[in-house]
Amino acid sequence: MSRSKVLLQVTGSIAAFKAATLASLMTDADVDVQCVMSEGARNFLGESTLEGLTRRPVQSDLFESGRAHDHINLADWADLLLLYPASANHITRLRAGLADDLMGCLFLANNFRKPYWIAPAMNSNMLAHPAVTEALATLGSWGCRILPTGEGRLACGEIGYGRLLEPEQIFELIRQELG
Ligand SMILES: Cc1cc2nc3c(=O)[nH]c(=O)nc-3n(C[C@H](O)[C@H](O)[C@H](O)COP(=O)(O)O)c2cc1C
Repeated sequence: MSRSKVLLQVTGSIAAFKAATLASLMTDADVDVQCVMSEGARNFLGESTLEGLTRRPVQSDLFESGRAHDHINLADWADLLLLYPASANHITRLRAGLADDLMGCLFLANNFRKPYWIAPAMNSNMLAHPAVTEALATLGSWGCRILPTGEGRLACGEIGYGRLLEPEQIFELIRQELG
């Protein structure tokens, strides 16, 4: 897995802190990790944490000067694109093909030449809503790998599905994928 390249895209879930652990596990295994944060993710996790762990500046601005083509280039650069955690908002946005942010453009630019994994994390009612279940089914039919959620106590206090796959679990799947 050494020197493999993973694009770790973090969206606005209370579980976003787990992306820091995953970034750390991957960099310890000599994986090159480039993080992209959504607008929502910034409410839950500091950019400096991810930059410090990966030793690469976090990207989030589609229109950042000097990075005009990164919405295409990063999809070419990565061996694996991962949405961890994937918010309901971003799952439904990707299904709609919206391209008004960096993640939306990267999703379309990837064109399924590289593995694209989605790890949902949300309240169980949100996860069961047809807007989300249908979006996940469509994204799966397009070639994305939809990762399972865990069952247990959620941040909102409810018990049910929607817990983000633990960093150690997804790290093991990444290790298997990238060999
Ligand atoms: C405390 C709190 C926790 C949240 N947790 C989640 C979550 O786990 N999953 C989710 O899909 N949305 C969650 N949301 C809502 C998202 O943060 C919101 O939809 C946001 O716009 C998502 O932005 P993004 O998709 O651009 O990252 C939460 C909101 C709050 C206030």
